Amino acid sequence: MGSWDDKMSGNGTLYVVGLGPGERRLMTPAALAALARTPVVVGYGKYLDQIDDLLVGKKVIRSGMGAEVERCRRALAAAAAGSDVGVVCSGDPGIFAMAGLLYELRDREAVFAGVEIEVVPGLSAVFAAAAALGSPLTNGCVILSLSDLLTPTAVIVKNLEAAALSELACALYNPAGKKRRELLQQALAIFVRQRGPEVPAALLKNVSRRDEERWLGPLADFPAERVDMNSLIIIGNATSVISRGNLYDRRGYREKYFPEN
Ligand SMILES: C[S@@+](CC[C@H](N)C(=O)[O-])C[C@H]1O[C@@H](n2cnc3c(N)ncnc32)[C@H](O)[C@@H]1O
Repeated sequence: MGSWDDKMSGNGTLYVVGLGPGERRLMTPAALAALARTPVVVGYGKYLDQIDDLLVGKKVIRSGMGAEVERCRRALAAAAAGSDVGVVCSGDPGIFAMAGLLYELRDREAVFAGVEIEVVPGLSAVFAAAAALGSPLTNGCVILSLSDLLTPTAVIVKNLEAAALSELACALYNPAGKKRRELLQQALAIFVRQRGPEVPAALLKNVSRRDEERWLGPLADFPAERVDMNSLIIIGNATSVISRGNLYDRRGYREKYFPEN
């Protein structure tokens, strides 16, 4: 919430709003309230289209893929000029989204120093995907992005190796683009090597959107050719179970309460 001092200094508050994975019912009341109070809303076109009914009467600043720095600067500038501003992100604003960049720009550019930033959380794709599958993250998870546009490939591979070595389920965001497919192959090979070909895996496309698709099976059969930028991959572990079309991770209740089987 913007403080009284900020309002007195003439700065608006910048709300970084998580829209959730798609469906309106998965948007939080706090996200709806933040958008209701911002006369200026900034975002990537596809996400703005998802909420066009909430934008009536507002100044809307659209930008394209790859224009994130410019988009965030425009939002900070509008807030520095005194307007309350909403920056919309899919899922949660703190996971492979705009919140971190907004804080970084506020630190780097003195003109934005007085802008108050409030992050309004959203349901990240991994949690919507997990719910659609059952309970694959019972014992926790690692969340990684396979996009090497902003992260060196060597760092991604190092993180994949470390994740695969752990006992945790792993969610892979940004798994592949039309041309960017090599890291996906590498990631699958790393997990097959560490966890074996039979470990359960899932591919979810467009979770909670029209055209939702789901594949569930052993990692060795993973349909890599179906992966696109609207996809999320979950790779299970030694305690993951596929049963009746669901994926869940056992927590240790069997060992503690039903040791006989
Ligand atoms: C730029 S990241 C944004 C992540 C977002 N901030 C979040 O917390 O979900 C975009 C990636 O998130 C994943 N993603 C976002 N929404 C999704 C959905 N509805 N279904 C499947 N994957 C999704 C995909 O891996 C996509 O490539």
